[in-house]
Amino acid sequence: MEERKISFQYRVYDKSSEMNSEDNNLIMEAKEAVKSSYSPYSHFAVGAAVRLANGKLIRGSNQENGAYPSGLCAERVALFAAGAQYPGIAIESIAITVKTENNIHQLPVVPCGACRQVMLEYENIHKNNIKVIMHGEGDMVYAIDNVRSLLPLEFKADHLKK
Ligand code: THU
Repeated sequence: MEERKISFQYRVYDKSSEMNSEDNNLIMEAKEAVKSSYSPYSHFAVGAAVRLANGKLIRGSNQENGAYPSGLCAERVALFAAGAQYPGIAIESIAITVKTENNIHQLPVVPCGACRQVMLEYENIHKNNIKVIMHGEGDMVYAIDNVRSLLPLEFKADHLKK
């Protein structure tokens, strides 16, 4: 038996304005995206914005449904839109933010496991690290330079029949 340890580093910014203008701009895009959130069930509005290697910015917001599992997170709405509109173009970064009714989510919002899995597959297929920028209602930011660190012991589709 051996015990193994996995750790990762991420950066914490007190305010989004401490980031470089490109990253700060992507947070602004995510904040714009929040406005199109359809979240009448959770009242938890999430916005995401993806920056592609060709410079394009793609927005997404969470879209819920009365048949609950039919909804989709903001991150995957943006990532799948990017994949559909610009197939084969690498993703450089994704920013995520949140808006609640009473500003109760002060800390940065972090992507759920399913969204991490989707981000990681794009990171792998494009052989290009995706920077994940997480923003909260208190304007604090967490930033990490790749998705791999956010999803250790990843499930890979390598062994599935193609
Ligand atoms: N949600 C996201 O859009 N992204 C996340 O990272 C976490 C959760 C959405 C899903 C659902 O519409 C609402 O937030 C509450 O879970």
